[in-house]
Amino acid sequence: MCGIVGYVGNNAVKDVLLEGLQRLEYRGYDSSGMAFVGAHQTQVYRACGKLDNLRKILENAHTESSFQGIGHIRWATHGAATESNAHPHRSTDGKISLVHNGIIENYQALKEELQAQGFCFQSQTDTETAVYLIEREYQKYQSLEKAVIAAVQYLKGAFAFCIMHQDEPDKIIAVRKNAPLVIGLGKNGNMVASDIPALIGFVDRIVYLQDNEFAVLHQKDVSFYDFDGHSLLKSPEPLALEAEQISKGHYAHYMLKEIHEQPDILRRLLSFYMPDGQNICLNGIDAKKMLRNIEQIEIVACGTSYNAGLAAKNVIEKLTDIPVRVEAASEYIYQKQLTNAQTLVLGISQSGETADTITALKQARLKNAQILVLTNREDSSIVQCADAILPLKAGIEVSVAATKSYTAQLVVLYLFAFKLAEVLGVANAETNYLKHALFELPVQMEQVLSAEKALEEVSALYASYSDFVFIGRGISYAGVLEGALKLKEISYINANAYMAGELKHGPIALIDENMPCVAILIKNSSTFDKIISNCEEIKARHGKLIGLVSDETYQNKLFDNLIRIPNVCEELSPLLTAPVLQLLAYHIALKLGREVDKPRNLAKSVTVE
Ligand code: G6P
Repeated sequence: MCGIVGYVGNNAVKDVLLEGLQRLEYRGYDSSGMAFVGAHQTQVYRACGKLDNLRKILENAHTESSFQGIGHIRWATHGAATESNAHPHRSTDGKISLVHNGIIENYQALKEELQAQGFCFQSQTDTETAVYLIEREYQKYQSLEKAVIAAVQYLKGAFAFCIMHQDEPDKIIAVRKNAPLVIGLGKNGNMVASDIPALIGFVDRIVYLQDNEFAVLHQKDVSFYDFDGHSLLKSPEPLALEAEQISKGHYAHYMLKEIHEQPDILRRLLSFYMPDGQNICLNGIDAKKMLRNIEQIEIVACGTSYNAGLAAKNVIEKLTDIPVRVEAASEYIYQKQLTNAQTLVLGISQSGETADTITALKQARLKNAQILVLTNREDSSIVQCADAILPLKAGIEVSVAATKSYTAQLVVLYLFAFKLAEVLGVANAETNYLKHALFELPVQMEQVLSAEKALEEVSALYASYSDFVFIGRGISYAGVLEGALKLKEISYINANAYMAGELKHGPIALIDENMPCVAILIKNSSTFDKIISNCEEIKARHGKLIGLVSDETYQNKLFDNLIRIPNVCEELSPLLTAPVLQLLAYHIALKLGREVDKPRNLAKSVTVE
């Protein structure tokens, strides 16, 4: 959360920073700001709310004489989303400007110390302590590098900074500790950003900064150091991504584009993990060595990734008899951990930057567990916590609400479950059947997506309701949890998912004619008839029923709206119900005029615990 960017070079600095911040907006949009160092002054511009507000202010700003600048997009942690809390923050003499991503955990103590020394705070942020610390140290050293080295020794927590000093032109210092930062090297200048998308099109090579390192960017070169000031040698790697890969194409929103990318991502994953269509190869992992002796699996993840883990539990336990515990990473951290050397911990994170998940994996490592990470970003921080990685290969996901990364997670988790069954010698006809059935899913998913018009019509009927109930059983419970999450994330409708059998133990009290209920029913599943009964109970209380039904022979006398999905086995059904529920959420949010790609209060990458 929060995104930072810096550029020193001979392109129009304002435009580079605006474009960079726009591509980082998934990290927050509570406020934004920029600082430009020119010949005689540092100009700072800040605005509350979305980046467009800053863009408007900058229309009248004269920054042409500046060849360097830093920018920030904020997801508020300390202090409300006001202009005074917006970054960049400046030193009292106005010469140092700084943007920050992360949290300075000991900021309160530092603030008191600095206040006692005469520094007068203008904001409620933790960040301001960093800028005054650097100012204080600069008074001693008269060198920005030395002041930064001295200041970071006092800071606890997570920080990625970009820092400039008015008296040291042609220089941006980029600092990293527990928050991502990548340096870009280009023909027309050098750049730094919280994430790769901001750099695409501006630079051709990149270097990932590691924790406790900083980089000094000049227009013509970049040098790297550790926090003791020792010089570091880094080999830049090419930046292979093209601007097209982060564009919306002809779609109205990234979310819609990403929903429609799912069938191709499934195909890509199947050919990556099963190149010969028979044998599963887990990204070069020695599966026998890693998996043969495990006695239990723990899955730690947050949000949508957690929901994918919950779905996987059903399949892994069924196929392997290995017990699986699924924990929200934020809870895992504070619970008694039963993790041991015979535990395989699966960390799932689209971004690979979720602080809770990273902390949970670090704790699991202390218990000698083996750690396997599923991530969409092989360049992310979580990779450092892993014994091995299973890439999701979904391409950059821009929309804050996760869609394609969820189905990619499911596919990789299925493949993992099949492989585990094989390694443990318990693979049977069912494992084989599922393994081959997976190859039918891309076409079936295309069928589901081609019915978008009908889903849009259903959405129009329900957009005015303020509450929703979702019900499912077994693996479909995980599916409805994700469906309800999608709806609440982007439409702000109060949507709750229940295990269908639990409905009568409380939630049924919610049902009346104002309560739409979404139910998943999969043909041949052991609970099909039971869920029909649950739906009858809802109908008897005048609830509105929307059914996702995979049985083509089912004669509808019950549902107000029936959405048919192709015939699919229960285990793989979340791959087909997910796109339906994603499209329902999308079209409802659209009808309500919501900002689909950037829902309020959320950030895609939650880098604070
Ligand atoms: C945030 C996002 C969610 C996401 C969750 C976990 O809350 O808004 O969409 O599911 O983080 O993210 P991760 O990158 O770890 O999968």
